[in-house]
Amino acid sequence: MNDAPPSAVTVATPHSRYDILIDSGLLSQASAWAGLPAATQAVIVSNPTVDALYGDALQQALTPHYGQVGRVLLPDGEQHKSWTSLNLIFDHLLGQGCDRKTVLFALGGGVVGDMAGFAAATFMRGVPFVQVPTTLLAQVDSSVGGKTAINHPLGKNMIGAFYQPERVVCDLATLDTLPERELCAGLAEVIKYGPIADMAFFEWIEGHLPALLQRDKAALAHAVRRSCEIKAEVVGQDERESGLRAILNFGHTFGHAIELGMGYGQWLHGEAVACGMVLAAALSAELGMVSTGFAQRLSRLIERAGLPVVAPAMEGARWLELMRGDKKAEGGEIRFVLLGAPGRATVRAAPDAAVLRVIAQHSARA
Ligand code: NAD
Ligand code: GLY
Repeated sequence: MNDAPPSAVTVATPHSRYDILIDSGLLSQASAWAGLPAATQAVIVSNPTVDALYGDALQQALTPHYGQVGRVLLPDGEQHKSWTSLNLIFDHLLGQGCDRKTVLFALGGGVVGDMAGFAAATFMRGVPFVQVPTTLLAQVDSSVGGKTAINHPLGKNMIGAFYQPERVVCDLATLDTLPERELCAGLAEVIKYGPIADMAFFEWIEGHLPALLQRDKAALAHAVRRSCEIKAEVVGQDERESGLRAILNFGHTFGHAIELGMGYGQWLHGEAVACGMVLAAALSAELGMVSTGFAQRLSRLIERAGLPVVAPAMEGARWLELMRGDKKAEGGEIRFVLLGAPGRATVRAAPDAAVLRVIAQHSARA
């Protein structure tokens, strides 16, 4: 067992400071779990798929630090990111007599992480929690930055809280068991960081995509680290999304409309975001903000990553209705994250006619 302190990316906001540890084998590395808030009880929140793979290892790692380590399992899938699942966590915490010092550990992808985080934000008005992300998407995005939420039938991530974890532990070895479709979905959020913030990283992804798809550990380590560095920088400047942080939602206005319009779980979040980025880049080009050549270059990379570049067939009016419910909308006006140049994003409204033209150009025929 390697007990050297793992290398870290630090997130610093006005009210919190924590490390994102990134390495292979961290689940069984004692130093990854030292120095967390003291408590008699820890509770691991996971789902049956991830628990079967990594629940025992995490429980074993936590046992030296906590008198009792409980486990609560939520049903697997985006369609279960709901009040009903959230209540299973509260049922367990109250049933086991957990107090306000209990530490929650979110073991899984973004669905588990967002729900465990929301439970931590609200149980007894807030208990500490640790993110242990096991999907690429969760390691590069959802476990970092403190956005926690559940879905509502009328809108994605509509009920939630900003609540930062105590630590994020990214064990790259857990990515070995990730289904290929989920790996590709995670690549969508990795690719996202290029056009919004770092064209050198974008070029690196273009060159290293085959290595990433083959799960080369060095390539994955760089992708996770650089993604987390960019996210930490943005969240450090704008924790509660009063401005800059919205750029992390590049592709999400269209993407959330696809997820909701198709029914939660039909398109994976990363797939919807990927296709949403194609639409957002095309809209940027349509408005003369970025070249068509760059929009096409981004689309090519997304396609090479095994991700969808053609949107599902949906009536234009339905698209607009879904996107008017987006959290960035103001007074019923949809606001998109668009590209002002490769590597620079900006948030603005767009004429419906231009939006509908771009959707029509990039959608499957009904
Ligand atoms: P997910 O949590 O549904 O996980 C994907 C699937 O992979 C699940 O079936 C899960 O059981 C399985 N899985 C997880 N780890 C595994 C492993 N190591 N081996 C085998 N199977 C494994 O999906 P996701 O893509 O991780 O997360 C998507 C969610 O994250 C969405 O709800 C989205 O809204 C949210 N999200 C939140 C933020 C944020 O800032 N909070 C950012 C991006 C996305
Ligand atoms: N994934 C968007 C954000 O964290 O702000």
